Amino acid sequence: MEELNEILKFYREIGAGFIEREHKNPLADLDEVTRVIKNCTRCQLHKTKKNYVPGEGSTSPDIMFIGEGPGETEDNFGRPFIGKAGQLLDKVIARMGYTRETVFIGNIVKCRPPNNRDPLKDEVDACMPFLIRQLEILRPKVIVCLGKVAMNNLLDVDYSIMEQRGKQFEFHGIPVIPTYHPAYILRQQSPDAVSKAKWDMWRDMEKVLAIVHGAGTIDAPPSNGAAE
Ligand code: URA
Repeated sequence: MEELNEILKFYREIGAGFIEREHKNPLADLDEVTRVIKNCTRCQLHKTKKNYVPGEGSTSPDIMFIGEGPGETEDNFGRPFIGKAGQLLDKVIARMGYTRETVFIGNIVKCRPPNNRDPLKDEVDACMPFLIRQLEILRPKVIVCLGKVAMNNLLDVDYSIMEQRGKQFEFHGIPVIPTYHPAYILRQQSPDAVSKAKWDMWRDMEKVLAIVHGAGTIDAPPSNGAAE
């Protein structure tokens, strides 16, 4: 009970809870969340990280991409998805007709878990108010969960990404489409497996575009320099 009160208190402190519908100044609100993230000591990850990685992009994005947590490169630079997986994500975003600046890219946890392990439950719980507050300010038309960790932690479920990718879920009224983490595509061993994974992801992105625009019209998967 005490723990629950603590969590509620923090949600109130940062104003998260999908209470406000109008955000008169999303940039200032987002800056404030970023400021709080950059002072966070709510879980152990702050002790081992080099930089906080709050997320970045548009303040009125159609799409918000959510990964699991910063890797080494992201930790070094304080920016999300800028390593190899990020380069592939950039291509997917471009093929969808967007740029990093016109979507928002964030993560379930804002500090790198040591050795890129999955974030622990208490770390996710500690960080979730930040993501909720970001979503509340940004109000994307669609959320894309990149991989199982993002999907399961955002939706509070224990699903297989293989079974659930491309299906539509909802988070506080916002449609959610889970898809592969780009690193999964990069890990595929054969050209056929790479090609299949890209097409699967691309079909998922067409669903995302269909929600945003009312139609998914793009007919080729993104290329991926590293795997081709
Ligand atoms: N993988 C993630 O899940 N997030 C990042 O920011 C980078 C790699």
